Amino acid sequence: MSSQDAADTLTSLLMKRRSCRAYLAEQVPHATIVRALEIAQRTASWCNVQPWNVTITSGAATERFREALSDHVAQAGWPNYAPDGDFDFPGRYDGIYNQRRKETAWTYYDAVGIARDDRAASASQTFENFRLFGAPHFMLITTPASLGVYGAVDCGSYVANVMVAFESLGVGSIAQAAIAMASGFVRGHFGIGDDQLVVCGISFGFPDRDHLFNSFAIGRAPLTENVTFLDK
Ligand SMILES: Cc1cc2nc3c(=O)[nH]c(=O)nc-3n(C[C@H](O)[C@H](O)[C@H](O)COP(=O)(O)O)c2cc1C
Repeated sequence: MSSQDAADTLTSLLMKRRSCRAYLAEQVPHATIVRALEIAQRTASWCNVQPWNVTITSGAATERFREALSDHVAQAGWPNYAPDGDFDFPGRYDGIYNQRRKETAWTYYDAVGIARDDRAASASQTFENFRLFGAPHFMLITTPASLGVYGAVDCGSYVANVMVAFESLGVGSIAQAAIAMASGFVRGHFGIGDDQLVVCGISFGFPDRDHLFNSFAIGRAPLTENVTFLDK
């Protein structure tokens, strides 16, 4: 493949990939899941420590987790749920970050028909996170506590590569930091020790392409907002 073809292929995958928030019930063949994981296993990491520890559910294991997580969050008082994350959530979003965050939320809520000031409807939509957006599979990504933020950064690269690998195989996915709001519960459910920190989850499966929740695309800032070129 020429370098132009390779760049075109990568561009096309990155342009086509979107966070998938509605799924078909059909299970993804195990061989397809393994293929995506083998691609993502090439992720670069600091000192090549490869800190991503991954638990994947299918079938009844996904249904058990979906029921248990959504019950837990509902019983804990959603939407007044006190987050129990291993990593601090941002204290606030200032300036351009707040603007991008709001624009993204509005694009999402406009597409699914939620009025901008309807907090009950947006809380109920956000609750879909804890029902894994109806996905037939779930992937939990944890990192050793001893590696701190460096392990989490490497896991972030891994998450990005998993999602692109899935896209290349026709599988939809969504990264979910929301899962990390219930880190202690999630660790308990999967029997994972305190020496592992919950980075995020990825729900995945074949996309329901006609669903309203998958009817919109989120844009990106122009390079000039993120990049400074220096040559002197
Ligand atoms: C690490 C990470 C965590 C995310 N967590 C959530 C989440 O908890 N719930 C959700 O609906 N979307 C989540 N997203 C999806 C982002 O909102 C989405 O990637 C962003 O708005 C850009 O849209 P796109 O993925 O469709 O291009 C997450 C994305 C990343 C990379």
